[in-house]
Amino acid sequence: MKSFLATPFFIFALSQLASAQPVPQYDWAEDSAERDRLLRVTAPTTDFTQAEKFEANPGGATSSDADGRERLSQPSANLPQDQRMNFTLGEALFDKFWVAAPSSTKASDGLGPLFNARACQSCHIRNGRGRLPENDGEQPVGLAIKLIDTARQMGDPIYGDQLQLFASGKVQPEAKVAISYHTETVKLDDGEQITLHHPIYEIDNLSHGPIDTAIEISPRIAPPLIGMGLIDQIDPNDILAQADPDDHDGDGISGKANLKGDQLGRFGLRADVHNLVQQVANAFSVDMGLSNSKHHDDWGDCTSAQTECRTAPGGTQLNLGKHEIPQKVLDLTAFYTANLAVPKRKNTSDPTVLKGKQAFYDAGCVSCHTPKYVTKREEVAGGNSFQLIWPYSDFLLHDMGDALADRTQSGTVGTREWRTPPLWGIGHTKAVADQERYLHDGRARNLKEAILFHGGEAETAKQNFMALDRTTRDHLIQFLKSL
Ligand code: HEC
Ligand code: HEC
Repeated sequence: MKSFLATPFFIFALSQLASAQPVPQYDWAEDSAERDRLLRVTAPTTDFTQAEKFEANPGGATSSDADGRERLSQPSANLPQDQRMNFTLGEALFDKFWVAAPSSTKASDGLGPLFNARACQSCHIRNGRGRLPENDGEQPVGLAIKLIDTARQMGDPIYGDQLQLFASGKVQPEAKVAISYHTETVKLDDGEQITLHHPIYEIDNLSHGPIDTAIEISPRIAPPLIGMGLIDQIDPNDILAQADPDDHDGDGISGKANLKGDQLGRFGLRADVHNLVQQVANAFSVDMGLSNSKHHDDWGDCTSAQTECRTAPGGTQLNLGKHEIPQKVLDLTAFYTANLAVPKRKNTSDPTVLKGKQAFYDAGCVSCHTPKYVTKREEVAGGNSFQLIWPYSDFLLHDMGDALADRTQSGTVGTREWRTPPLWGIGHTKAVADQERYLHDGRARNLKEAILFHGGEAETAKQNFMALDRTTRDHLIQFLKSL
């Protein structure tokens, strides 16, 4: 990676060096004096004797003080009073259980016929991550299984882009999924043993015969949704400045931007979506079978081979618009996700946490988990504008090694590549969902396991973690839990 020590000149030089990928030129929003000042503010710290200024507010002025199970469901603290109603309306839509058409509650119908969940919140539990089944036979709701034919860059000719495990009316669910694990014991340098769980997916009860042989699956668990508007507001130049796809600086860490034309993807576990409204529109259509301005079909992810699904009644009401999800509903739901606050940190000055923070830096975790940014100053972004934020991510794709690979490739991204996930709020996982599940498919049951699955570009950082003495390692975990 190219570190945040990058000066504007360095960034310029970098764009000249850049790889085969065409690098779009974005205008810097600010004058160069301000840019220099911001680079100083966002440079990684070297002082671990005390907490950094503002570190306790990972979302800047948007950070909330909430506690309890709904701690990830709070509005940005600086959300103006006149926008709180929109947040509340968006929340109701996010929590709403959609039903199949036709129904008596007209404004809630249109679900499916094929779907993965009835509500956004069924997967993003209390705006945290999805849960995986703990009982045999239970279907994974918060896990989307994407179907990808890499050679042809398309989904399955019958089952579409994603396996829907639920269906309404006379339509059958597409399949049943069982997840089992084979375990591997990893011995750390000081003798501590950690068990890693490698998932194995078994797909049966397929409603329309076998899945095409060219299809590979990409299981992905629902990620937490805090701070989405802040992430949206990070200057693309700040993300691109860290990309080093050909590893010119030779530090073993490249980092690749997911660019489609001049659009920089930053949402989704492979950063393939560049815009929050698009991400929400995709969810309405693919996960719940609800049409909207970006996906016009009432039947969502049903293909023409699934006639019973395509001919089932839709839920569009022409008095509300052309789609099951009118534009206003889409916008309010996106507004809600854009303004979910990141909780304030409580124990940033705790000596244990500070030692753990130092270990996190020393191990090289910050090469990808970039601590901080200042978001772009733009009036339309409301309270998300010009905030010092601490997401701990570079929002780039990294080769994470074989253990985390699936066999799918979307465009130029795959099979071992994942977007560095933000780490803010990660310490609240258990309190919010009663379960800890980390990494793109939720395989890791605790933070140590998540770290030990790192490989590829993160191999050295992982080795550094493994070589720590037990106390320092525990401090590092304490630091993560304090985020
Ligand atoms: C079936 C479970 C499921 C449902 C239902 C669902 N999501 Fe998601 N969501 C996911 C998964 C899985 C991802 C990661 C997608 C990927 O990597 O392709 C995701 C990603 C997202 C992201 C991007 C997060 C990030 O870190 O980049 C947003 C925002 C989001 N969902 C919002 C919503 C909203 C709003 C709804 C309701 C309209 C919704 N989701 C419904 C599973 C779900
Ligand atoms: C080369 C870049 C890179 C480095 C270095 C790196 N990580 Fe990561 N980290 C990632 C990526 C990418 C993922 C997501 C992998 C996946 O989902 O399969 C991830 C995931 C995680 C997660 C799970 C997050 C979640 O929401 O599920 C934790 C915790 C984490 N990293 C901690 C660390 C620590 C601690 C270190 C240093 C020892 C470290 N990482 C070093 C790129 C990196």
